[in-house]
Order: sequence, then structure tokens, then C-alpha cells
Amino acid sequence: MERTRPDPIRPVETALAKKLYIKTYGCQMNVYDSARMADVLAPLGYGTTETPADADMVILNTCHIREHASEKVFSELGRLRAARAERREGGTDMIIAVAGCVAQAEGAEILRRAPEVDIVLGPQTYHRLPEMVARATWARSAKDGNRRRGAGVLDTDFPTESKFDHLPAPAGDQAVSAFLAVQEGCDKFCTFCVVPYTRGAEFSRPVAQIVAEARALVAAGAREITLLGQNVNAYHGEGPDGSEWALGRLVRHLADAVDGLVRIRYTTSHPRDMDDELIAAHAEVPQLMPFLHLPVQSGSDRVLEAMNRQHKVKLYFEIVERLRTARPDLALSSDFIVGFPGESETDFAATLKLVEEIGFAQAFSFKYSIRPGTPGAVMENQVPEAVKDERLQRLQAVLNAQQVAFNRAMIGRTLPVLFEKPGKHAGQLVGRSPYLQAVHAPAELWEIGRVVDLRIEDIGHFSLSGSRDAPVQRAIHSNPASLQEAVA
Ligand code: 5AD
Ligand code: SF4
Repeated sequence: MERTRPDPIRPVETALAKKLYIKTYGCQMNVYDSARMADVLAPLGYGTTETPADADMVILNTCHIREHASEKVFSELGRLRAARAERREGGTDMIIAVAGCVAQAEGAEILRRAPEVDIVLGPQTYHRLPEMVARATWARSAKDGNRRRGAGVLDTDFPTESKFDHLPAPAGDQAVSAFLAVQEGCDKFCTFCVVPYTRGAEFSRPVAQIVAEARALVAAGAREITLLGQNVNAYHGEGPDGSEWALGRLVRHLADAVDGLVRIRYTTSHPRDMDDELIAAHAEVPQLMPFLHLPVQSGSDRVLEAMNRQHKVKLYFEIVERLRTARPDLALSSDFIVGFPGESETDFAATLKLVEEIGFAQAFSFKYSIRPGTPGAVMENQVPEAVKDERLQRLQAVLNAQQVAFNRAMIGRTLPVLFEKPGKHAGQLVGRSPYLQAVHAPAELWEIGRVVDLRIEDIGHFSLSGSRDAPVQRAIHSNPASLQEAVA
């Protein structure tokens, strides 16, 4: 599922022989995949660059979840065609690859409509990139540098062997906060969603492989790991004892087995898959942060049914209550869709009521938009655009007010902040609170990667600011009741 942090991994300029530019669209899984594609290509001499015009190879790692996704890819390809022409005039060349979910869904169409594309690859085949690059280079060996007709490389298989068995260990300096894919694909088939078609059936990586990758990430500098999966809490990987482990057990094991890992998060979860073990982990594993992204999509049972969400509103409330009993200061985030086919004003009012009753620290809300090939696309009673617009505005007004109230409740409190990188101004770092809020504070570069208690002094549009000059106050989780009041 899609979720974007404001600042995904930025490619780093290096002095390796060939330059690779990866443009990442969409979710955190794509950010992870981009980093792994860079790892796979590093042994071929590719180091990353931030400027496409300098690149010997460009990968567009696409997302299919938002509207007009493929149109955006085609216009980007138009720009790349021009950049490549300039490079050719200068005597160099550029390999152009399209990866990710748009590639998976529209691979052949991309090669037909955009002959400048050398490689199209789906999310399950990027371990084969070196071979694809070799084939693309060969196909280009015609004298004029143009590809031989029909020789574009297309690899959108769902191979039986897992790419995870073929990926190298994460390389180079690692961001303080890293992603680790533990699960991929989805078997839920919500009627609005393309993920089961583009990412395929659910697959969970074995525990030993995940532990090894987590250790490599920490050895390379990570202090926080976000476990990723389109339906991450459906995780059911093979444990070291050969039995099947669920996500709660995996989280507990990572907390115990990976020295130096100070924070664990996971995303994105489905309400149906929040089991007792995972809820208990929120109470018992100190490294597991008190923040959960738990999409509900709608507050109406009628709409949830049409969406094939496989749960009712009541279940969502019950889970939230159990989670808050386990971890009273847990901050919640969610996804909402307004204007799903057949959504009435009464259904929408039920969504507003749910939001008011639960109280969210942050949330993402979208107008329903048709994804060809999904059941929702052919449903009758599509909701007019103007109605969707108006509902989205009303929903976002409530969600924004809750977010501001949640942030404002932090003023005067002391929060442990994991410093991640330099802030906008000199002498300043930015990090994250346990509740995933960005926090700016005066600090020195060497403090990146450390958790520091900060007294929160102010809130801006998207972040908090604090300092540690003030006397240290109680940590926030020792005073949970007033926090919930702030968002209730
Ligand atoms: N229309 C609108 N929103 C969608 N999402 C997924 N598919 C659609 C669609 N067709 C939203 C859901 C999901 C989030 C990642 O994107 O809310 O949880
Ligand atoms: Fe899509 Fe539903 Fe699966 Fe989430 S649970 S990835 S919304 S099908």
C-alpha cells in the first residue's frame, strides 16, 4: 500500500565509473526497492547520481496506486528522451528502464508507446537487472545506437524463485531510519485496489533472512527499521525452528536479536490481521514505537462491504480499544477513501463519526478513482466528482484539526527524538518523535543516529521544534491520558 514519508532516500553522488539515477514514485516499498536496485547494480560499477542528465542509466520506479500514474510516466519518458539525445550528441548514451507497478501493469504498452525505453521490469524481477542491462546493451549495439526493433527487454514475471534469495546485503552508508521488506503482495482484493494484481500473491520472507538484513542495516548505520509489506501484519514467515511465525513474534525477535536497533515500526496493516501477539508486542517491546498506520477506508459497514474490506466498523473500534489498552499513548494513522461507488451522504457521515470517535494523530484521505481491471471500476453508482470533492474537503478539515491538536498537545512535553539528518538551518538537526512527528532542534552533526530527550517548544505546519536546554520533563508515555484527550 502506498504511504510516502516527506523525504524518501536521496541518491548519493559517488565516484564510481557509471552513474545511475533512480526516480522513485509512491510508497515506502518502492523506496526500499529503489535502494535494492542500486545495490544490485553496484557490482556493475553503477554509483548513484542526483542528476538524470549525467546518468548512464535511469530507472523510473513507478507507482500505480494514484490516478494518472501511467500518464506521468510517459511525460517523464518524454523528458528523458531529450536528455538521452543530448548525451548522444556528446558521445555518451543512457539506458532507460521502467520498473515498479506501472511497469508490471502496462509493460508491453510502455515498450510500444515509448520506444526509447530499453528495459521494463516488474517489482518481482529486479534481482535479474544485471542480465537485463547486458541484454539491453547488446540490443543497442546497432551502429546508430538505436535499439533494434522489438528488442526492448520485458521482464514482468512472477518468478517462482524469490528475488529476496538473490539480493546482495544492503551496501554503503545507511540512513538512520531504514526500510526492510518482510512481506510482499496481498490476497485481500479490496475492490478499489491494484496491489493484488501488480505485486501479486502474499509472500513472507523467512525470519533468518530478515534478521540477517536487519543486522546488515544496523552495521551500516541504521538505528530504526520500518518493516514493510503491502499487508505487513499478514506476515507468516518461516521461523528458525521451521514453524510459521507471525509479525508479533518477528518484532519481538528482532528487538532481542539485533544489537543496536533502537526503534522498530511496521507498515501497512490490515485491521483483520491485528492478532493478540502483535497487540501484546505493543505493550511489551520497548523498541516498538507507539504509532500505528491502520487504514480503515470508511466508517460505513455498507461501504466496507462493497470495498470487500472483510471487516466491519465494530471490529476497527474493538482493535483500537485493545491496542490502546496495551499501549495507552499509541498514536493512530489511517487511510480513507471518499466517494466509493454507492457511498451516500449517510455513509459519509458515518466516516466522519468514526474519525471523531477514534481520533487520529495523522491520516491520508483520497477521492475514489477508478483503477481499470478492479471490480470497483465497473460498479454502478459512481459518485459525481463534485460530491467527492466536497466530501474530501469536509473529511480533511476534521483530520487536519485532529493532527494540529495532537501536535499542539506535545508543547511543553519531553519526547525522545531519534536524530536522522541535518535540518534546513546550520547547527540544526531533524529527527522523529516516537509518534513519527518530525522534530527540529539545535544539535551537532555527530549526534545523528542518537536518541535525545527534547522539550517541545513549538509546532509548525508539518513539524515540531524543541530543545534540550529546558529542564527535562517526564517522558510522554508516562502521561498517556491527556494525550488521548487531545485527539478524542
Ligand atoms: N482510489 C482512491 N484511493 C485509493 N487507494 C488505493 N486505491 C485507491 C483508489 N482506487 C488508497 C487507499 C489505500 C491507500 C494506499 O491508497 O486508501 O489504503
Ligand atoms: Fe490493497 Fe486491500 Fe491489499 Fe491493502 S489490503 S494492499 S488496500 S487489496
